[in-house]
Amino acid sequence: MLLSIKNLNVSYNTVAGKYKVIDNLNLDVEEGELVSLVGESASGKSTLGQVISRMLPPVGIATGEVTLDSVNILKLSEKEMTKLRGTTVFMIFQNPLNSLNPVKRVGTQLLEALFIRNERTRHQMTEDDARKEVIEAMTSLRLPDPEKIMLRYPHELSGGQVQRVVICMALLLRPKLLIADEPTTALDVTIQAQVIKLLRDLNKQTGLSIIFITHDIGLAYVLSNRMLVFYAGRVMELGKTTDLVKKPMHPYTSGLIASIPSAPKDSGRLYSIPGSPPSYLDLPNGCKFSPRCKFVFNKCLNEEPNAIVTNGREIRCWLYE
Ligand SMILES: Nc1ncnc2c1ncn2[C@@H]1O[C@H](COP(=O)(O)OP(=O)(O)OP(=O)(O)O)[C@@H](O)[C@H]1O
Ligand SMILES: [Mg+2]
Repeated sequence: MLLSIKNLNVSYNTVAGKYKVIDNLNLDVEEGELVSLVGESASGKSTLGQVISRMLPPVGIATGEVTLDSVNILKLSEKEMTKLRGTTVFMIFQNPLNSLNPVKRVGTQLLEALFIRNERTRHQMTEDDARKEVIEAMTSLRLPDPEKIMLRYPHELSGGQVQRVVICMALLLRPKLLIADEPTTALDVTIQAQVIKLLRDLNKQTGLSIIFITHDIGLAYVLSNRMLVFYAGRVMELGKTTDLVKKPMHPYTSGLIASIPSAPKDSGRLYSIPGSPPSYLDLPNGCKFSPRCKFVFNKCLNEEPNAIVTNGREIRCWLYE
């Protein structure tokens, strides 16, 4: 098992008070798996990614076990964790500028990424070959004029270019686990499709595992084998992507799928789940989705359902108890 998360709880301790964002999460990811993490804004997706790459800001407190490549990373010192970053795990941040060093040229950073991989795999490469590989990787992401972009600093690039430079870094590093947090939001649909294909090919060819964070179920559907539906920091449904999309069981998953814009149900009218996600400072009793659920009954309002396994998937809903 590449990643095994047990009883993970994450809270933020802020001036507005302490609130728990992730509640008792359990998740296993095998080597070579493509897992997507979907859910509405503020459901805790980026927080989970940051925990797995140990990049949670100091106000965040994580307890439980996060075992990555046989090591509980929550127990590592910063120095020990630094050795794993880029080799065992690499995270493409939702704001991709956060994954780059602002005072180093793009080319230098990409060459360093390749250098880190070569160190790990004990592979020797001439400087010319290294440059060639960096340029090839940039070209595969349709970055125009790679040689010129290599000379620039991150702030001199457009949002979509920064996003591709960071994806390029991931391609060159080839960590065991890549966490990609909304990696294609600033890209045109054609380039988006190219990036998704690249990630899929990379997974097939090198066995790279990916946790793909997105609010776009359509993208999650084409990329991932397994899908995790997140709501208020809880796993609502987890299972094979095709099963979840074709036969969602949790009312929240059904709502998300009905809201996919490319599938208008009637005369172009779009469905949206009524209401909005709850505030962590004032979570409802019982099931956290109950105020927005059309199947709600008494028990849902008073008791929170536990995750149960049925039909090969994990689900947290009283309809299935
Ligand atoms: N550094 C922080 N300090 C305090 N609260 C935070 C911090 N980062 C995130 N949060 C809170 O934690 C909750 C989950 O945020 P998170 O960024 O993980 O959500 P998300 O699912 O990634 O959302 P989005 O789809 O908008 O990116 C939110 O309520 C957010 O306000
Ligand atoms: Mg996020």
